[in-house]
Amino acid sequence: MTESNARVVSGIQPTGDLHLGNLLGAILRWVRMQDEAQCLFFLADLHALTVDIDPAELRANVREMAAALIASGIDPAKSILFRQSAIPAHSELCWILNGTARMGWLNRMTQWKDKAGKNREGASVALFDYPVLQAADILLYQATHVPVGEDQKQHVELTRDIALKFNNDFDVELFVVPEPFIGGGTTARIMSLRDGKVKMSKSDPSDMSRVQLTDSDDEIAQKIRKAKTDPEPLPDNADALEARPEAKNLVGIYAAVTGESIDEVLSRFAGQGFGAFKPALAEVVVNLIAPIRQRLGELRREPDELDRILAHGAARASEIGAPVLARARAAVGLD
Ligand code: TYM
Repeated sequence: MTESNARVVSGIQPTGDLHLGNLLGAILRWVRMQDEAQCLFFLADLHALTVDIDPAELRANVREMAAALIASGIDPAKSILFRQSAIPAHSELCWILNGTARMGWLNRMTQWKDKAGKNREGASVALFDYPVLQAADILLYQATHVPVGEDQKQHVELTRDIALKFNNDFDVELFVVPEPFIGGGTTARIMSLRDGKVKMSKSDPSDMSRVQLTDSDDEIAQKIRKAKTDPEPLPDNADALEARPEAKNLVGIYAAVTGESIDEVLSRFAGQGFGAFKPALAEVVVNLIAPIRQRLGELRREPDELDRILAHGAARASEIGAPVLARARAAVGLD
């Protein structure tokens, strides 16, 4: 990302706890982008309505996730941090873009297919329309870069298609066509600790499949000790990890946390078994998470301050989005 007028937009659903996949795939990358561009980060609470929710839980999760982002290094003095539902323009632009998005495009979304599963008839309309709301989130702020994990890449590509079709259909140069900004190495897709072929996810029923920000040091060490592996020692080159998904994931997590390359990590651990590697991995993950967990504990005691930060962020985001929404309304004849 080198352009001086870059604008970064990304969001996270305030459901469940922040896990290592979110942290390495998105949040810590957001933190690094704060000094390079104007950044808008939000809690996608409208997206949380696509599945069954408990209103009290959603309310509490918004603050908890805001605290988790700040504890991870999102600085409200540098970045605009807000909750999506505080800004009606997201929903309004979503409706306008619903006129542009095609059923066939949404039908091809793998997240829709995965989440609806065999029960398409019983899935909510919002779950199907979810990517159009995501497009509205991005296009409202004319984002140039959207830092996300691999699982969200298809949604950003759909956003590009919607932007191009809208600009073309209404003969305007309104929407900026955004780039998905995916992490290198393993960070794009951190996998479950129980199965190296599925991504680490909040919706995995097994708590042992993910390391969460709220886990104690002992819980983190235990989850890593019990992580699925194979009986072979670690190889001396990255290619040899390709057929070993669990080993690849654990080495990838180590590299992502320490900032080393896979080869650098392997040069130190080649020939050693997981009995030696897992405690070393647990140590670096604990060193990453423990200070964040401590800050999170402190921030939880300041709900008024969190609300103030979110309100301030919403006011700033609203100012940036208003003229774009006005132009979108005018383009379709709603002025
Ligand atoms: P969500 O809440 O599922 O995840 C937040 C971010 O974490 C990334 N991520 C991962 N990265 C690597 N490995 C994993 N195992 C892993 N699991 C999650 C996600 O890719 C994401 O970047 N639809 C989005 C939220 C959203 C959004 C947006 C994002 C709504 N509007 C506009 C960007 C722009 C979501 O549900 O992310």
